[in-house]
Amino acid sequence: MAIINSPLGVGGKQSYKFSSSSVDYYLANGISHLKEIVDPGSAIIITDENVFNAHTKRFKNWKTIVLKAGEEHKIQATVDKLIEQLIEMGADRRSVLVGVGGGVITDITGYTASVYMRGIRFGFIPTTILSMVDASIGGKNGIDVGLYKNMVGVIRQPSFILHDMVFVNSLPQHEWENGFAEIIKHACIKDAAMFRQLEANSLKNYQSRKTLLCALIQRNAILKTKLVQKDEFESGDRKLLNFGHTLGHAIENMYALPHGHAVAIGMVAACRISEQLCGFKQTDSVLALLSKYRLPVYIEFDKAKAFDILQKDKKKVNTAMSYVLLEKIGRGVIKSIPIKELESIINEL
Ligand SMILES: NC(=O)c1ccc[n+]([C@@H]2O[C@H](COP(=O)([O-])OP(=O)(O)OC[C@H]3O[C@@H](n4cnc5c(N)ncnc54)[C@H](O)[C@@H]3O)[C@@H](O)[C@H]2O)c1
Ligand SMILES: [Zn+2]
Repeated sequence: MAIINSPLGVGGKQSYKFSSSSVDYYLANGISHLKEIVDPGSAIIITDENVFNAHTKRFKNWKTIVLKAGEEHKIQATVDKLIEQLIEMGADRRSVLVGVGGGVITDITGYTASVYMRGIRFGFIPTTILSMVDASIGGKNGIDVGLYKNMVGVIRQPSFILHDMVFVNSLPQHEWENGFAEIIKHACIKDAAMFRQLEANSLKNYQSRKTLLCALIQRNAILKTKLVQKDEFESGDRKLLNFGHTLGHAIENMYALPHGHAVAIGMVAACRISEQLCGFKQTDSVLALLSKYRLPVYIEFDKAKAFDILQKDKKKVNTAMSYVLLEKIGRGVIKSIPIKELESIINEL
């Protein structure tokens, strides 16, 4: 078993081992503990303007670089500028970059730290639900190139991940929805008990009860961690995390949908395909849960165009495509579907 330290509690640290390093998780701590984890003299915080403006006082006494917010800035030009700033600030091999923000910031921070001086240490304080349960975990760090998302990057683990629930106080409603789409994804592929817990609660409940939210976030962060530990370089089980994302990515780009909305619609489509290929019988429960968390379950979309984009998807292997399906809630499986069959199934959706 890869867990090294004591069980996670308030103030607790838990370490998770990956192939070449171990990551310290402080999921019940708070940003005030950052100075116990990294020396403020060697740390440089990277954040974005939204996070900085909403939480300025938390950055007091820390060297901080504030980037423009948004996916459109997750590009090499931002990294180049950031590297110039690091040089100006005298960052050296002992420096530690700390990404405080959503997935855009954690991706940029991890990537920049991995190439600066051939690699310096970095850590994350994710501030969106999505980055807490998904983007900050697993060591994938990268940037977009033109239309191609995450085209360039590295797999390298952060030294630590710290959560502070104070950040979600300023999170816009639609970012909650994006995050919960990934949480529902985790429940569908791996955790039937969590699916039931989500059914019994509501977004409002989680927003108003921090301990409930904190426990849910920890459960999801650890669920993803364990999947990645088993398959860091995505040859098997890690692919389950693509549930809802294959068709999801296609329609996200076609209709400029929020990521969570596209994934929700993609998950419903994957449930329908699972009915045909895996005897899955719980689509209605998935539909109901997504709706409960204000996520859409269907849009009219151009099937031919979506299929065309799917075919160009990097998960395509020769004449078949691997697709994440459900046998039942809590049990995701990876199936190879012949391209022709997939085309006709998508046409019928
Ligand atoms: N590396 C991975 O394994 C992985 C996995 C999933 C997603 N991602 C990447 O993550 C990104 C999406 O993550 P995201 O949704 O967190 O995006 P994001 O970083 O763009 O954050 C979403 C928005 O919320 C704002 N924000 C962040 N924290 C806030 C807070 N506490 N209060 C108020 N506003 C806040 C941001 O400024 C931004 O406008 C994508 O680029 C995606 O490719 C990476
Ligand atoms: Zn996603």
